[in-house]
Amino acid sequence: MSQATSAVHAHTDASHSHHDFARANQAHFDEHADKLEEEHPYARNFGVLSVNAMRDTFPALFDKEHTEVLDYACGTGMFSQALRPYVKSIVGADISQASVDVYNKQAADQGFASQMRAVRAELKGEPGELGGAKFDLITCSAAYHHFADIGTVTRALAFFLKPGGALLVTDIKAAPDGAMLVPETYHHVVPHRHGMTEERMRTTFEGAGLVEFALKDMQAVKFQPDAPEIMWFVARGVKPAEGV
Ligand SMILES: C[S@@+](CC[C@H](N)C(=O)[O-])C[C@H]1O[C@@H](n2cnc3c(N)ncnc32)[C@H](O)[C@@H]1O
Repeated sequence: MSQATSAVHAHTDASHSHHDFARANQAHFDEHADKLEEEHPYARNFGVLSVNAMRDTFPALFDKEHTEVLDYACGTGMFSQALRPYVKSIVGADISQASVDVYNKQAADQGFASQMRAVRAELKGEPGELGGAKFDLITCSAAYHHFADIGTVTRALAFFLKPGGALLVTDIKAAPDGAMLVPETYHHVVPHRHGMTEERMRTTFEGAGLVEFALKDMQAVKFQPDAPEIMWFVARGVKPAEGV
C-alpha cells in the first residue's frame, strides 16, 4: 500500500486502532441476537434486497441443484433465509454463538435444518476448519464494515472456495464526499464508518488472489426516517480455476 493510500485509510476508518473489533462484535451480537429483528425492523427486508442484488447481477452463480454456499458472518440468518430457495445448501458461520443459535432454531422451526445450518467460527483459512469443506459460492452480507482487517478475512474466505468458485460481498459504498455514514452508537463495532470505495474492494479481492473483480451499486437505503440515504454495493471475485 502506498503512503498516500494508507494515509487515506487511516483517516477514513478505525481499522488500524488497537480496539478489538472482533471481540466487541461478538459481545454486541451475543447480547442483541434475540432482539435483533425488533431493534432493526428493516433488517429482514434488507436480506431480501441483498439476495436480489446478487442474483440480478450474477445470475449464473445460483443453481438450486448444485450451489453449495458458505454464508460468512451469517448472523441470525435473515440473509441466508432469503437465499435458501435459490441454492442447494448453506453453511452459516459467525463469531457470535447467540446469533448461530437463533439461526439454527429458525432453520429447524421452518423445516429447513437439513438445507441450512450455522456454526460459531472466526475463520482463519486453515486446513481442518469447517471439516475441510469447500464451497461454490461464499456470501458475506452487511458484515465487511464490521471487520477490522478486510484483507485477512478475504484471504481466509478465498481459501474456502472451490477453484472457479465466487465470493459475493454486499456492503456500504463510500460516499463521493467521504462522509461519515455509520451513526456513532455503532462505532465500537464498526471500524469502516465511511464505507468502502470500489478501489479498496478491488485491491482487497485481488490481494486475496481473486480474479474477475466486479462491483455494482446495489441500492440506496434509508434505515431510519431521519437517517441519510446510504448506497450499498455488491462485489464479486472468483478463485482462479485449477491450472490457470
Ligand atoms: C450486520 S450483521 C449481518 C448479518 C447477516 N449477514 C445478515 O445480512 O443478516 C453482522 C454480523 O457480522 C458478525 N461478525 C462481526 N465480526 C465478525 C468476525 N470477525 N468474524 C465473523 N463474524 C463477525 C456479527 O456477529 C454479525 O452477526
